[in-house]
Amino acid sequence: MSAYRNRIITIANQKGGVGKTTTAINLATALAAIGEKVLIIDLDPQGNASTGLGVSRQSRKISSYDVLIGTSGIADAVQETAVPNLHVVPSTMDMLGVEMEIGQASDRVFRLRRALVSTKAHEYSYILVDCPPSFNLLTMNAMAAAHSVLVPLQCEFFALEGLSQLLETIQQIRSTVNPQLDIQGIVLTMYDARNNLAQQVVNDVREHLGDKVYQTLIPRNVRVSEAPSYGKPAILYDLKCAGSQAYLQLASEVIQRERQRLAA
Ligand SMILES: Nc1ncnc2c1ncn2[C@@H]1O[C@H](COP(=O)(O)OP(=O)(O)OP(=O)(O)O)[C@@H](O)[C@H]1O
Ligand SMILES: [Mg+2]
Repeated sequence: MSAYRNRIITIANQKGGVGKTTTAINLATALAAIGEKVLIIDLDPQGNASTGLGVSRQSRKISSYDVLIGTSGIADAVQETAVPNLHVVPSTMDMLGVEMEIGQASDRVFRLRRALVSTKAHEYSYILVDCPPSFNLLTMNAMAAAHSVLVPLQCEFFALEGLSQLLETIQQIRSTVNPQLDIQGIVLTMYDARNNLAQQVVNDVREHLGDKVYQTLIPRNVRVSEAPSYGKPAILYDLKCAGSQAYLQLASEVIQRERQRLAA
């Protein structure tokens, strides 16, 4: 058993395709491999985290939709994955209807937070919430429930564009529904050393955001992008590839920061 209390980390960036889901799956797998008990909550109607973890659409009988609507608890919704110690609450397209269902309810932002009070949720030392690429009620639920936000940032020319909006949103959530919400860290993804611009982007981001940025750079790696089509995390699909190794390194940085935080 881990010595930590349960830590809920939302993985968010309103930009699409920056590596949120890939980070959720592989960071979770790496944490599980180190011995943590980990739960991924798939809050994206696209359901990419569920698919990438090998949960077929037919087997998604109870999903994060049911959890948010309130017809099921976390304990009913969790499913095992091929990774020992890693469970998932899958998502379905039903999630597109959540706003219609609960949009008028006064507690609409707190549905996930309330569900995570359950005993089942406390079995996990880390809970990672994979968000859709937008600021909507789903992302709000994720941020209202979390201790912190982990932001994947793609190493491209426009990396910093949109980040100020994200940081503003986090600040807004802090001043309204979740004062404790912290920034867990910023992880640079899809780094391509052959691209001259990439190093410049890394320097710029580090200059702007300082030590919030993880040392680990996630390289652009074809094995990482192939893995989801086999329903496997990259770390299971090809442990030795550069992408898997980077996610293992990221996990040890995350754990190290947690230790420092708890010791402070
Ligand atoms: N390190 C990497 N190397 C190569 N390809 C990657 C890497 N990380 C992510 N990808 C690929 O980039 C695409 C986008 O990644 P991913 O789905 O993780 O992003 P996302 O932010 O979750 O997207 P969305 O906003 O649509 O939810 C996917 O096809 C994924 O396989
Ligand atoms: Mg995604």
